[in-house]
Amino acid sequence: MTDSITASAPGKFVILGEHAVVYGKPAIALAINRRLSLSVTKCTEFRLNDEPADVNSSPHLKNILSRYDMVPVSVRSESRIPAGSGLGSSAALSVAFAAAMRAVEGMSLVPEEIAFEAFEAEYSAQGRGSPMDTSASTHGMGVALNVPGGKPLWEMEKNGRSWNVVGIDVPKMTFVIGYTGIRASTGPLVEKVRKYKDGNRFAADIVDDIGRVTLEGMDAILRNDAVRLGGLMTEDHKLLSILGVSCRELNRLVDASLPHSYGAKLTGSGGGGSMVALTDDPEKVSDAILSRGGMPFVVKTGVEGVTVSARRE
Ligand code: MEV
Repeated sequence: MTDSITASAPGKFVILGEHAVVYGKPAIALAINRRLSLSVTKCTEFRLNDEPADVNSSPHLKNILSRYDMVPVSVRSESRIPAGSGLGSSAALSVAFAAAMRAVEGMSLVPEEIAFEAFEAEYSAQGRGSPMDTSASTHGMGVALNVPGGKPLWEMEKNGRSWNVVGIDVPKMTFVIGYTGIRASTGPLVEKVRKYKDGNRFAADIVDDIGRVTLEGMDAILRNDAVRLGGLMTEDHKLLSILGVSCRELNRLVDASLPHSYGAKLTGSGGGGSMVALTDDPEKVSDAILSRGGMPFVVKTGVEGVTVSARRE
């Protein structure tokens, strides 16, 4: 008999502040009711979904396994978070695997440690980024980085940059995600913004403006002011477009959603992936997204973070 550990971690969307957060600016991410779950069992070789696999082809998992002398494990995963959709599928994988491996090795399930190990895995796989996605997936509910106020969770640093992460209570709001169907990976988009910002004062000012909009958005969330929050989301989308991380498909879905929304914007790294609209009329927004070739899904916020359970097999 072996112990099989199952861990489940939520996806997230970034409501404000993506890209600018990489440079220490504020950002806010909300966990959603789409989850990835995986089970881990010790075995004689590395296996993925019941097939022998090369661990080098899974850099996130490899980074986490290197903390445990590359002990061979069998990993089965299933996800309701579309990969490359900007909804944190890779962070959820790292968080769930970090939590499961700690449980497999009989270590305590301290959220800060899980978030830290998952962030290290993401950073090493992408070579860049912030602890926003992994923190949101670990903690659940909502997290804000680099803002005053909120419930202190943890602080992380990497290569001279540091992020202060707080938990926020998210009021009940309805969002519709519109997935473009275009898979976009975060690393190259973060790199594109870095190059633009490093060589251009104007781009650096846009990054500052995103920081200002996000701080105002934090206040709007805490006051449950959907009108103000929606307006700030739309403003953020314009700023992100100027930074060059939107695309025609995302703009089309944002424009189609706006007449029925408080506001709409791309979410996550952009370049494809997804947009998000804040609305009281999710059906109309979903229809509008569908009519422009996007894949809509209504999401609930206020969900729990990573969970772990054990079973004898
Ligand atoms: C990706 O969801 C958000 C980015 O800001 C990158 C990061 O924070 O790691 C684009």
